[in-house]
Amino acid sequence: MSRLIVISNRVTAASAKGGAQGGLAVALTAALRESGGIWFGWSGEQTDQFTGHINFTRSHGVTTATIDLEEQDIEEYYNGYANRTLWPLFHYRIDLAEYERDFAHGYQRTNEWFAETVYPLIEPDDMVWVQDYHMFPLGQELRRRGLKNRIGFFLHIPWPPRRLLTTLPEARTLVESLLAYDVVGFHTREWLLSFCDYAREDLGGVIDENDVLTVGTRKVRLLACPIGIDAEEFAALAASPVAQATHDRVHRSAVGRALIVGVDRLDYSKGLEERFLGYERFLLENPAERKEVVLLQIAPPSRADVESYQRIRNTLEGLAGRINGAHAGLDWVPIRYVNQGYPRDALAGVYRASRIGLVTPLRDGMNLVAKEYVAAQDPADPGVLILSRFAGAADQMPEALLVNPHSAEEIADAIGRALAMPLDERQRRWQALMEGVTREDVIWWRKRFTDALAAVAADPPATA
Ligand code: G6P
Repeated sequence: MSRLIVISNRVTAASAKGGAQGGLAVALTAALRESGGIWFGWSGEQTDQFTGHINFTRSHGVTTATIDLEEQDIEEYYNGYANRTLWPLFHYRIDLAEYERDFAHGYQRTNEWFAETVYPLIEPDDMVWVQDYHMFPLGQELRRRGLKNRIGFFLHIPWPPRRLLTTLPEARTLVESLLAYDVVGFHTREWLLSFCDYAREDLGGVIDENDVLTVGTRKVRLLACPIGIDAEEFAALAASPVAQATHDRVHRSAVGRALIVGVDRLDYSKGLEERFLGYERFLLENPAERKEVVLLQIAPPSRADVESYQRIRNTLEGLAGRINGAHAGLDWVPIRYVNQGYPRDALAGVYRASRIGLVTPLRDGMNLVAKEYVAAQDPADPGVLILSRFAGAADQMPEALLVNPHSAEEIADAIGRALAMPLDERQRRWQALMEGVTREDVIWWRKRFTDALAAVAADPPATA
């Protein structure tokens, strides 16, 4: 079995206690532990001058290799191009996207640093797997340095419609850089088809019936391959002492009311404003049930140096304050809004204590909270998942109550329906969801992708 070299911006070998919120971290830790190899990326730290010094550590059964970046690189590459340009654009928010040449240059430059530093660590038999939108050009930079290994790329966010993508000044360069990879993976067929649309219309690419894209002499295998969780591990976590203690504490604090839970990074793509408004609508339309429910929204701050994130934080504080002010009574507040993260085992307990999991992103590459909520449920008395039809996860989870997250009415109706749902229907839906989450888990995802990569003919062209 080939060693796996995973390259991603954020390197966080996740443990139950570690409190890592990102599902990606959890998924990759599980995948790397299985196959051996190295996880390479940014340390999250700043240095005065870039030296290329690599810091190796071994944690939770995984070897990580990280480098520090200079302030300007962090500003232009991470806060800039990755999070002020690509993230909003790829989540269909061109109103928030900022197009600045300095960002594009910093992004390219930092990817060259990454390529330069990781290149000597790669052995001839290794398979290289680059993750996410921070690193589109990395494969091309590795090829330019002579790397002949198989290189795969996986995108964890949506791929935007062609009409939106063409607003990005560097769209063509960016997409062409993807031709250096042997396999390019997306979570859903919808994102894959949007990519094909651009490749066909703007690059003159041809896509065959096996989803192999040909542009000039380059062939790239495209793959729709939804990421999963380690369902068994998460279910076990939900039965752990910490989860149990958290469950009891949260359950007691609800004093007999039905708990509705949301857990999201504080990000405008997560639809939190719309979620609060949908919940408020439910309260207004159902006076009898008003004091029978509590919304617990856990939203740890994210990317706090980026202005659009500061704005959404302010907006939500104002909105939660207004809704609570308007509806709270002496012994009840409708929204508990918590701006901090919790360890995964504690979260598993919170999910299990919640009658409804409310996952309503406006756009989401996948969304693993939806899957974790399902895996944490008590089979004898499972809760109901309300899920945005615009999350990648919706494709695999038709038994959830699917809603349009832009519609306060649909969110309000779904809350009402979930609260009234009889036990046998809850069990039926949950069993079907749990079967899917268990079958298409993180190992299945990793294997599908690495099998596709291994199947590519060896010795691809050295340059793309
Ligand atoms: C999303 C992205 C990941 C990213 C995570 C957390 O899930 O797809 O690549 O790591 O958000 O965001 P952050 O900026 O804190 O790494």
